[in-house]
Amino acid sequence: MQPFGATASLTAAKAVNLHDFEARARARLDDSAWAYITGGAADEITLRGNRSAWDGLQLLPRVLRPLAGAGLGIALLGRRWPHPLLMAPMAYQRLAHADGECGAALACAAQGAGYVLSTQASSTIEDVASQVRDEPGRGPLWFQLYPQADPGLTQALVQRAVAAGFEAVVLTVDAPVQGARDRERRAGFTLPPGVRAVNLPPAAHGAGAAPDWRGQALGWAQVEQLCQACPLPLLLKGVLHPDDACLAADIGVAGLIVSNHGGRTLDTALPSAHALPRIADALGGRLPLLVDGGIRRGTDVLKALALGASAVLVGRPLLLALAADGAPGVALALRLLQDELLMALALTGCRSPAEATRALLA
Ligand SMILES: Cc1cc2nc3c(=O)[nH]c(=O)nc-3n(C[C@H](O)[C@H](O)[C@H](O)COP(=O)(O)O)c2cc1C
Repeated sequence: MQPFGATASLTAAKAVNLHDFEARARARLDDSAWAYITGGAADEITLRGNRSAWDGLQLLPRVLRPLAGAGLGIALLGRRWPHPLLMAPMAYQRLAHADGECGAALACAAQGAGYVLSTQASSTIEDVASQVRDEPGRGPLWFQLYPQADPGLTQALVQRAVAAGFEAVVLTVDAPVQGARDRERRAGFTLPPGVRAVNLPPAAHGAGAAPDWRGQALGWAQVEQLCQACPLPLLLKGVLHPDDACLAADIGVAGLIVSNHGGRTLDTALPSAHALPRIADALGGRLPLLVDGGIRRGTDVLKALALGASAVLVGRPLLLALAADGAPGVALALRLLQDELLMALALTGCRSPAEATRALLA
C-alpha cells in the first residue's frame, strides 16, 4: 500500500473518470469501511437501479447550434454558482481519509462545487465552515440536518450552522429509521477509534454504525414550524412521491432534493432518475429541484438537468476519491465531472445548463 502525500497526486493523475478511483479506494479501505461506504439496503436493487436508470435514458443531440460562450454557471436559491455539482452529505468522512470533511469541503470549494456537511460529520461544523467560507469562487455551503430526539438539540445544530456561515439547511426526511444494510452488517461495521459524530453529544449517535436516534420522526406540521423558524432556506432531501413534493411546496420549503438516499434506506424504492420527472411535472416549477443517486458521468448530470434539476449531488464517487487520494482526489474527480458535463452539453448543442430541456431525451 502506498503512503498518502507525494505519490497521491501522481497516482490520482491516472484517473480519467470517476470509476477510476474505486480500485484505489478499495485497496486503502478495510472490508468493513468498504461495505459501509459502498453498500446499499437489502438486495441493493435500488442501489443498482439508480445507476441503470440514468444509463437507460437516451440522449437525442442537436447539431450545428451556436456554442460560443458556453459555460456551466447556474442560478440556485437566488445566487449564481460556477456549476451544478455538489458533494452529497455523507457521514464520517474521516473514515475514508484523514483529510476528512475539511479536506473534502476545501476540494469542493477549490473546484467551485457545493458541499453539504452531514449531521453525522466527523469534523466540527465550525472547522469545516472556517476552512471554506471565504474561498473565492466556491460553491454553496449547506448543512444537512437529521432531526434529533431532543428538539433543543436540533435547534442548537441549526444555530451553530447559521453562526458558522452555512447558507442553507438540508433536512433529510427519508431515514426515520436505518435501512437494512445487510452488506454492512455482515462486515460487522463499527466506527474505528477516533472517528465519531463530533457535532452530536455521545448519547445521540450511539456506539456503532446503526444509530437509532433518527426514529424521532417528524411530521409535516413540525417541518413547517422548522421552516418558519429557520433563518436559512430549508430544503427537503429524500422526497420521491409527487404528492410529498406538493405538500413540501405548500409549506414553503426552499427546494427539494429528489433522492432515495443512494439506495441505503428502502430497497426497491424508485430510482431517483425516474422520480425526478414525475416530481418536476407535479410541481410545474414551484420549487427548485436537485437530485442524487447514481450520478457518475457528465451525461448523467446533463440528463438530470434535462429532466428538471437545477443541480445534482454526487455521493459515493467523491467519498471514494477522498479515500483514494485525500482532498486532491476529490478535486480531481470534480474537475473530471465538470469537463464531462461541458463536453456533454456541447455535444448535445447546449451552451449552458439552462438550455438542457426534455427535448434532449429520446
Ligand atoms: C457512506 C454514506 C454516508 C451517507 N450519510 C448521509 C448522511 O449523513 N445524511 C444524508 O442525508 N445522506 C447520507 N448519505 C446519502 C447521500 O447524501 C446521497 O443521498 C447518496 O449517497 C447519493 O447516491 P450516490 O452515492 O449513488 O451518489 C450517505 C451516503 C453514503 C454513501
